[in-house]
Amino acid sequence: MSTTDGRLAVVVLVSGSGSNLQALIDAAASPASRFCITGVISNRPGALGLQRAVAAGIPTRVVDHTLFPDRHSFDAALAEAIDGFSPGLVVLAGFMRILTSDFVGRYAGRMLNIHPSLLPEFQGLHTHRRALEAGVREHGASVHFVTDELDGGPVIAQVRVAVKTGDDEASLAGRVLAREHELLPQVVGWFASDRVALRDGRAWLDGKALQEPVECCA
Ligand code: GRF
Repeated sequence: MSTTDGRLAVVVLVSGSGSNLQALIDAAASPASRFCITGVISNRPGALGLQRAVAAGIPTRVVDHTLFPDRHSFDAALAEAIDGFSPGLVVLAGFMRILTSDFVGRYAGRMLNIHPSLLPEFQGLHTHRRALEAGVREHGASVHFVTDELDGGPVIAQVRVAVKTGDDEASLAGRVLAREHELLPQVVGWFASDRVALRDGRAWLDGKALQEPVECCA
C-alpha cells in the first residue's frame, strides 16, 4: 500500500535500541526516498526505538508480549496493530520474538528481517560470539524475506565485515551494526521501487531469481 504521495508505507517492528530503525528514518527523510515509515511497533514498552520514532513524528504502538497468554494471541494483536497502519511492507529491525506460522503467512512476500550474520551461517542468537568462537575470517549481516524457518527465508543482500585479530564480541558487533545501517535502507528502497520480490520461494531482484545474495553496498 502506498501513502498519499505514492511512497510505500512501511511499518517497523523493534524490541530494543532501534538503530536500524533510525537508519530507515534517516533514509526516508530524503526527498528521493520511495518509502515512508507510517508506524513503529514494539513488544517492549521501554524500547529506545519507540523514542526514536516519537522524535521523528512517527506514530507508535506497544503490543507487550508479557500481557498475552500465548504466541497466537500475541501475534493476533500484533497483526491488528500492523494492519492499522496499512503497510505495504513490514520490517523486523531487531524484533526479538519468534512469530507463528499464521502470522508469517499473513505477510508473506512483504516482511523483511535483518539478521547479524552471513546467513545461512549462525541463525539464531549470539551470532557475533559464535562467529568468533568458530574462527571465521568474515562475518556480516543479511536482509531476508521472513518465512516459517527462523532466520531461514531467502536472503536478498548481505554486508561482509572482516574479523580482526583481537576482536571481541562488542567490537565485531559494532562494526557489523554500522554496516547494517547501510544494508537495510538499501534493500527497503529496492522493495519500495518494486525491484525485489519473493516468488516461488526465492528472492528476485530486477526480474531475476538470485543465485546468491547481493553484496551491499557498492
Ligand atoms: C541488529 O544487530 C539486528 O541485526 C538484530 O538486532 C540488532 C538490533 O539493533 N536483529 P538495533 O535495535 O537496530 O540497534
